[in-house]
Amino acid sequence: MKEIVHYIDGGFREGTGAELVDVNPAAPDTVLAKGRAAAEAQVDAAVAAASGAAPGWAATPFRERAAVLVRAAAHIRAHADEWGRELSLEEGKTLAEGVGEVRRAADICDYAASEADRPTGELFDSPRAGERIMVVHKPVGVAGVITPFNFPIAIPAWKIAPALTYGNAVVWKPAEVVPLLAIRFAEALAEAGLPAGVLNLLHGGADVGSRIVEHPGVNVVAFTGSTAVGRALIRRCGDLAKPVQAEMGGKNAAIVLADADLAAAAAQIVPGVFGVSGQRCTSNTRLVVEDRVADDLLAEVVRLVDGLDVGDPLDPAVRMGPLITAAARDTVGRATGEALDGGAKALAGGEPYTSGPLAEGYFVPPSVLALPGPDLPLWRREVFGPVLAAVRADGPEHALALADDSEYGLSGAIFTRDLGTALRAVDEFDVGVLHVNSNSAGADLHVPFGGEKASGFGAKEQGRAPRDFYTRTTTVYLRG
Ligand code: SIN
Repeated sequence: MKEIVHYIDGGFREGTGAELVDVNPAAPDTVLAKGRAAAEAQVDAAVAAASGAAPGWAATPFRERAAVLVRAAAHIRAHADEWGRELSLEEGKTLAEGVGEVRRAADICDYAASEADRPTGELFDSPRAGERIMVVHKPVGVAGVITPFNFPIAIPAWKIAPALTYGNAVVWKPAEVVPLLAIRFAEALAEAGLPAGVLNLLHGGADVGSRIVEHPGVNVVAFTGSTAVGRALIRRCGDLAKPVQAEMGGKNAAIVLADADLAAAAAQIVPGVFGVSGQRCTSNTRLVVEDRVADDLLAEVVRLVDGLDVGDPLDPAVRMGPLITAAARDTVGRATGEALDGGAKALAGGEPYTSGPLAEGYFVPPSVLALPGPDLPLWRREVFGPVLAAVRADGPEHALALADDSEYGLSGAIFTRDLGTALRAVDEFDVGVLHVNSNSAGADLHVPFGGEKASGFGAKEQGRAPRDFYTRTTTVYLRG
């Protein structure tokens, strides 16, 4: 069994707060790690360490900062198989997904390092003779980073690596159910030579997160998690006048129009819903299909879903692992049950596992539900699990209206051969990420990622977008 340790001021230390237990969601009797949460004094010590280290790190030449990230990337990549396995054990995604995520974290660190070579400022001419005006970007100081369970190393990487590139120190609290991969990420940066205090890792629950957010030594807050928590955080950061970036929920629609390649659409939609056991903010959990092709498309989707092996995520044949906790499993079960009671029809799955190892672990069957219309809560509420809700549309206009009628606006997809309709979706579908003829899940590391409406607040992430969040500017009127 492993120990859950914090990383404070350059050293791995035991916590002195409440007990933490990390279990395997596929076999919850198996304890993977134990330890104690960070106590208040440890949060304060971490912020003090970060504040102390921030000026030195900001003054470190950018190439040296980038070199740390490049070495960390190499370390992560060298451990991808081992850490990917650990990730699957702890989080429940399949081995292929776990190893893929670890490699992705390495790529994100490399990309963030490459940003150091790009210009961070701008130069303007002046209306006055003998003057230039320049805008310089400077680090914000200490970033508080709060990350979710579903991508326990990739999401921390895409927040922390750019924070470090732009010269900031970090105090980070990962979701308490995935401490091991967080320790691995801290380990990689420590091995790579990150100076003491520049990154601090604290485990624990909401109280630890709140103390980081409230701390006067923390200058900005970056968060990924639910819309409810994100909204509370945004309100609080407003009171504290602290810049905040929040990546929140999604209820992402895939539109399939009658002119689409139906087999290709189904082959995209199924991994887009059931990958990572549906625990992805970008999963396309809503399907809007044009009535005249609905039966054919749904038959193909169900055929593919019936072929998904559910089970131990370490088994290479398995295509879908468990959910993260019993509470997550029960939420999905309740939402599915309510929809069935409300007139939805289960085309696949729908009933919880009641016996055997799948009932003992936090497994949920991959489910496809045909809804009578867009009025059931399952159509609107994010349930964060492997459930596809399908609704029929009269035609392209109706389909777009149904897809866009959501409080969320993270990502979306449209399957069509008509370029005009696709371009219309670009203008009318209010999402931060739109896919044409591919599913809505995932994000490439070199382009902006983030949502609209209740899905996102503040600066986007990834690509060059984090520069605006992790730096502040000074406009310099420069004369000789
Ligand atoms: C998410 O969907 O939760 C993050 C984006 C991704 O899959 O990479």
